[in-house]
Parts: sequence; structure tokens; C-alpha cells
Amino acid sequence: MGAEFDDYATAYHQFLSDPLRDKFAPGSQFFTLRKWELIQKFLDSYKVPSHEQTWLDLGCGFSDLLRLGQSFFKEAVGCDPSSEMLAHARDLRVRLQNRPDQIPFDSETFDLVTAVCVYHHIPSRQIRASLTTEIKRVLKPGGVVCLIEHNPLNPITRLIVSRSALDVNARLLGIGESTELLRAAGLHRFSKQFFLYLPEALYRRFAFLEAWLRSVPFGGQYAVFAQK
Ligand SMILES: C[S@@+](CC[C@H](N)C(=O)[O-])C[C@H]1O[C@@H](n2cnc3c(N)ncnc32)[C@H](O)[C@@H]1O
Repeated sequence: MGAEFDDYATAYHQFLSDPLRDKFAPGSQFFTLRKWELIQKFLDSYKVPSHEQTWLDLGCGFSDLLRLGQSFFKEAVGCDPSSEMLAHARDLRVRLQNRPDQIPFDSETFDLVTAVCVYHHIPSRQIRASLTTEIKRVLKPGGVVCLIEHNPLNPITRLIVSRSALDVNARLLGIGESTELLRAAGLHRFSKQFFLYLPEALYRRFAFLEAWLRSVPFGGQYAVFAQK
């Protein structure tokens, strides 16, 4: 049986399109840029230059984030259970993930593992927990994981998810649930932030407002960082 996203890959960006989302920011570039920006800021705060680090983007899909950030790392790779999604990332170092709860890389390989909008596509609590244990396994000691998810406390996010064909099987998880998954896997030193308050046009002029709002739990998405 193929992975769920094999069915969405051909028309992926059309599936993402929604009048409200498109008003917030047309296309997907802004959303990818915002994620990259906040990951980069977090890594900068660690004062470890990313060009000395190895990065895995778990559930990379089309790999827009990987394509944007790869040149900043010593090594950057992705994996995903959907071969059809990965077919759009042939220019990158990506690997097929044969099982939803196993990461196809050796233990202690990565300084950074990201999973962006992946967990809400895993309805099973057991698979979420096993996959998080796998993230810990492939992280080097001191390595960092970053989970980015839709924020169920934001009503517009909920509305967009409720009418997206991509999300028929989605089960959103709040920041508390994400943090608890990471804690249960034995990760620690949490850093959390909410983002995507301002539409692209406003963000260009008032980015500082998003920095002020990072602890207010109503942004369109959130990020949780933790360390091994
Ligand atoms: C909404 S897409 C996000 C893709 C990419 N991370 C991004 O932000 O553009 C969700 C991706 O998660 C992948 N996925 C679903 N279950 C997964 C699992 N158990 N492990 C890793 N990836 C998974 C899907 O195949 C799909 O490519």
C-alpha cells in the first residue's frame, strides 16, 4: 500500500490553496521562509555555526524547506514515506522512509532534526510516540529537534484545515501535546514560540510585532525546539 501523500503529490500546491490562506500570503514561499527564518534564529542563539552541522528534515515532502536551507549546513538530507512526494525532490539528498515509525538513518547522525507539519498527519498516538523516540535516536548528543505544527487555538488555521482535502485525516496537536511527546521521548530544554500572526504584506513592515507576540498562543502555527 502506498503512503497517504502519494495521492496528493501531483496536485500538492493546488490542494494547499485556500482563499483565506492565499489572502494571508499567496503561494507557499512566505510560509517556508518564515519557518526557515525562525529555525536559523534559534540555531544562531546556540552559537554553533550551522555549516558545521548535519540536518535531517523528517517528512520533507516536496522539500521546499530543505532546498532553501541546505546550503547553510555541512550536510542536509530529507526522508518521507511518500515516494511520489520525494519524486519532486530529486535534486536533493532524500531517502524513502519505509515505515511511519522508523527513520532510515543511523543513530546519532544529526545535529538538527526538523519535522514540519508532519505530526498532524499521523493520527496514531503510538506512531507519534515511536517516531519521536526515533528522532531522539538519530540525534547526536546535544542535538536539537524542531517540531512545527498548525496551532489548533487559531480559528483561521482550524477553518483552513477543516476544508482542505489534504487534511481529511489530520488530527491537530496543540503545543502542550507536542511538548509532551518530546518530553516523553527523553528530550529537554524546551523553547517554544507562536508565529504567523501577520499576513505577508504586514510582516514585511512590522516583523518586530511577531517577535513581541511569540508567547501569545494564537499564532497560525507554533514551533517547539528541544535538545537531546
Ligand atoms: C503537509 S506535508 C509537509 C511536507 C513538508 N514538511 C513541508 O513542510 O512542506 C506532510 C508530510 O509528512 C509526511 N508524513 C506523513 N506521515 C509521516 C511519518 N510517519 N513520518 C514522516 N513523514 C510523514 C507526508 O508524506 C508528507 O510529505
